[in-house]
Amino acid sequence: MNMYELQQEIIRLKKEKDICILAHSYQAREIVEVADFTGDSFQLSVMAEKAPNKNVIMCGVRFMAETVKLLSPEKTVYLANPIAGCPMAEQMDKELIEGVKEKYPDYTVVAYINTTTDLKTVCDVCVTSSSAVKIVKKLPQKNILFIPDCNLGDYVSKQVPEKNFKLLSGGCPIHARVSARDAKKAREMYPNAEILVHPECTPDVVALADFVGSTSAIMNYAKQSDKKEFVIGTEISIAEHLSYECPDKRFYTLSKNLICPNMKSTTLVDVYNTVVGTGGEEIVLDEDTMVKARKCIDKMIELG
Ligand code: 13P
Ligand code: SF4
Repeated sequence: MNMYELQQEIIRLKKEKDICILAHSYQAREIVEVADFTGDSFQLSVMAEKAPNKNVIMCGVRFMAETVKLLSPEKTVYLANPIAGCPMAEQMDKELIEGVKEKYPDYTVVAYINTTTDLKTVCDVCVTSSSAVKIVKKLPQKNILFIPDCNLGDYVSKQVPEKNFKLLSGGCPIHARVSARDAKKAREMYPNAEILVHPECTPDVVALADFVGSTSAIMNYAKQSDKKEFVIGTEISIAEHLSYECPDKRFYTLSKNLICPNMKSTTLVDVYNTVVGTGGEEIVLDEDTMVKARKCIDKMIELG
């Protein structure tokens, strides 16, 4: 089968088997084309609940598939490629955070959604990059322990200066590779372009950007802007999707190192095998863990 035939077969089978395919915006073009919905982490979690289908295939990383299962425990949820994990989500475990909480008992634990389900059981509220500022502002508590991404935490703390923040040293190894030097070089090379970055980038890169936002926020900004050139400071797939959607505009990547091998590990063949029933991994979570972890996801949806 060629790629087009494979796509047609996936589309036929997903209808026949009542499957909803969700794809994170970092997924490859050919996967986005067969997905029922593509978006950022927050939009995917909202869609997870809304989708009427009995089965969901997540094309993204493990914590995203786990979030779908938490929100829709009655659905059968698959991660299209079982090796796709987010290294940031694995950086901190429950025991570590329980220890930190003992040290700072009057701090509310705000967890980036890029965390394991197990860790979410000891957190108060989840946030995504698109909802973090809004949710932290709405929380009645003043003392915030933001985990695990210190770059996103730093960005949120600057937008919500009225609160006290404690940050730990975690973060996305891919976005952390971009340097202020890359941003200055991009300014010189593309003087008419706007620089749009994800808040997982380091504070010195964020400070040099024209716009900071989640993957979907970056895409919406570029689509709606009157400007014609953009430097994209997040995973390279975003620049690629934008160049298809806005052929009259030019998109450059802030750094050639902005490639997430985990997001890129899912292929169209993985999606096909999962639809057929010979691939992917069904997400199975322990009942007690699900009940505890869901509380902070529900709070995120309520405040987001
Ligand atoms: P979004 O919240 O923008 O979807 O980002 C998720 C992610 O993993 C970024 O690296
Ligand atoms: Fe995780 Fe970073 Fe990859 Fe996003 S880009 S999935 S935060 S490693």
